[in-house]
Amino acid sequence: MKIAISGASGKTGSRIAEEAIASGNRVRLLLRKGSFLPNTLSGQEKTVISLNDSISIEKSLDGCDALIIATGARPSIDLTGPARVDAFGVKQQVLSCQRSGIKRILLVSSLCAGRWIHPLNLFGLILVWKRIGEKALEESGLDWTVIRPGGLNEEEEELETQGIRYTAADFQQDAYIPRRLLAKCCIEALQTPESKNKIIEVTSSKEQPSITMKQALKDIAI
Ligand SMILES: NC(=O)c1ccc[n+]([C@@H]2O[C@H](COP(=O)([O-])OP(=O)(O)OC[C@H]3O[C@@H](n4cnc5c(N)ncnc54)[C@H](OP(=O)(O)O)[C@@H]3O)[C@@H](O)[C@H]2O)c1
Repeated sequence: MKIAISGASGKTGSRIAEEAIASGNRVRLLLRKGSFLPNTLSGQEKTVISLNDSISIEKSLDGCDALIIATGARPSIDLTGPARVDAFGVKQQVLSCQRSGIKRILLVSSLCAGRWIHPLNLFGLILVWKRIGEKALEESGLDWTVIRPGGLNEEEEELETQGIRYTAADFQQDAYIPRRLLAKCCIEALQTPESKNKIIEVTSSKEQPSITMKQALKDIAI
């Protein structure tokens, strides 16, 4: 598969790109002007997009089979970021997939997306805007998956000792997951047809038994 990854300069997006490559896929990294990539991705195909300009996104999807959206408003005193990036920026990316004929799309969202009352909403009502972004996928007619992770961390060691807790929407509200495991989940979702048209919440812990996403989706009513 050739996978387009937006937000590939981010802490999750860059790991998604690394995991996509590690599992034998080709990638195209969709970056905004001025984004910095880690050295691990320096030789990869990249293109510059603006989330305000769906034509730039559409062009950058040419020849790709799927888009993973890992853009997210960076914490800032500009409280309009979540509306611009997590809602309208996602809508533009969905529109670009529809126009360019890409059928498969995956969005990295967040636990508690859609909640009005939550401390994270002090940053520009981010959870409310994230739900609007999710809805754009749900209503797109594309083969979509929304992955809602818990709090993200930078753990990279002994991740094989952690199992992932998969649930349907609005079952989990706290707990964490390393960005590396989230990245692996995103790639696994693209390889798991049962993940289509679903919101999947993911957190991880050492107490959680290790199972595949396919098995988890069979066992639980998502
Ligand atoms: N932090 C958490 O604990 C947590 C928990 C749950 C869910 N999430 C969500 O998970 C996702 C990944 O989080 P993260 O902390 O790993 O991400 P991150 O490191 O903050 O990366 C964000 C990415 O989005 C890009 N971006 C931001 N604004 C943009 C714009 N206007 N146009 C184009 N690209 C833009 C950034 O590009 P630049 O490099 O150019 O800035 C970067 O590539 C986000 O959606 C986040 O909200 C985070």
